[in-house]
Amino acid sequence: MLANTRETYGLVSQLLHWTMAALILALIPLGLYMYELPASSAEEVVYKSWFYSLHKTLGVSVFAIAVIRVVWATIQPHPKLLNADNKLESLAAQTVHWMLYGAIILMPLTGWLHHSATEGFAPIWWPFSQDLPFVPKNPQLASFFGLAHYFMAILLGFSLALHIGGALKHALIDHDETLQRMLPGRYQSTSRELANPYFKRLPVVLAIFSFIALGGAVVTSYVLNNVGLAQPGTDTSLTNNSTAGWRVDKDNSQLAIQVVQSGKLVSGIFGNWDATINFDPENLQAASAEVKIDVASLSLGNVTAKAISADFLNATLHPVATFKSGTFVSTGDDTYEIRGQLTLAGHSKPLDLHFTLRIENGRAFVNGEAAIKRLEFDIGRKGFSKGDQIGIEVLVQFTIEASRAVPT
Ligand code: HEM
Ligand code: HEM
Repeated sequence: MLANTRETYGLVSQLLHWTMAALILALIPLGLYMYELPASSAEEVVYKSWFYSLHKTLGVSVFAIAVIRVVWATIQPHPKLLNADNKLESLAAQTVHWMLYGAIILMPLTGWLHHSATEGFAPIWWPFSQDLPFVPKNPQLASFFGLAHYFMAILLGFSLALHIGGALKHALIDHDETLQRMLPGRYQSTSRELANPYFKRLPVVLAIFSFIALGGAVVTSYVLNNVGLAQPGTDTSLTNNSTAGWRVDKDNSQLAIQVVQSGKLVSGIFGNWDATINFDPENLQAASAEVKIDVASLSLGNVTAKAISADFLNATLHPVATFKSGTFVSTGDDTYEIRGQLTLAGHSKPLDLHFTLRIENGRAFVNGEAAIKRLEFDIGRKGFSKGDQIGIEVLVQFTIEASRAVPT
């Protein structure tokens, strides 16, 4: 029998229930395990990323099954409780069922939102798009969804403990058929009349209340975690507000880095940055440039998460890196040097940039590079100060196409 009756669950509900139960019971320890895994060497990062990808892929499968399950449950008759006369127990069972229905949707959804807001990732192993629509890449948002996922895991664990405890009580103490009717082929229909539940709306209200309380806990925890992190004066908006000079054409410009990792050259790019440039080759004294980089927008293969973590670029505490020009020096026909100051990971140090410039029909084509000694900025000092695993020098390369900005 595929469909439910008022007396028992059909095969479809049973299969959906147990597939989901198996996946969730595997995902919880997997989530806890992968989170605790170290990521201090390239091998460890690769190992950890593999488990993250496994977790995310299984988690997204849970989401798909959960949607099917919820649709199936709404078009099916709902078997009545076997112990409806025990008002308190049935209230608890019904409330927990509603909490579990909420959790099977919200648990994977918060994980997926977290993944979508995070720049650089252990990918979900599937051929479709990785990210949910309308979710911007943003470290604050990512940390908010990360917290929501964590709190959801606590709520899910709590409701599961009650749910499994209840199921075992029915089987071992009450000796009724509650567990049998969720097991394929184990329930013999008796066509008996079961009582309607005493509470109809209260279980839903209580379950909704538990999710509202959870939302409150997430917001409180987010606020507490972020107090003191926001630096006064830090401007994370990277919009170009220059009123003169050059306007960067983002589509044809790139800010990239190269670093040697375990003997191999690894390249990465920053997805979000902006530059305010005032430059006239005839008047170098008046030239100025300021580049702001959203550190968390770095994409560096499968070591992205590590690169922006607290031990390296520390994107949470220092979300924006800034380069401010000092003097511009002409070093050849089309070549220049900027002696400026780089502020990165909370440290400010002098940095010289070299670049070539070509101006054609009001458009500027710039190519340049600079070498950063990462230890000067305390990047990867913990555990990676020797340079044998991660090179000490990081090469920054930039290609900029810009047009003359129309003064506003
Ligand atoms: C791990 C994830 C699990 C989830 C998300 C889950 C979720 C649910 C939900 C939402 C229902 C209500 C179905 C409905 O009536 O519409 C249900 C029913 C049931 N579950 Fe689970 N469950 C899980 C694991 C388990 C486990 C491990 C057991 C057994 C030890 C179990 C035993 C049962 C039984 C016996 C019922 C039927 C209750 C009744 O007839 O009133 N479940 N489950
Ligand atoms: C029912 C499905 C899921 C369950 C039961 C589950 C459970 C867990 C648990 C117990 C943790 C460790 C606690 C924590 O740090 O939050 C965790 C972490 C995590 N989960 Fe899930 N998860 C599920 C689905 C997903 C999905 C669909 C994704 C992404 C597509 C995802 C991404 C993550 C990530 C990225 C972490 C680490 C969080 C961090 O590094 O702060 N999870 N999950």
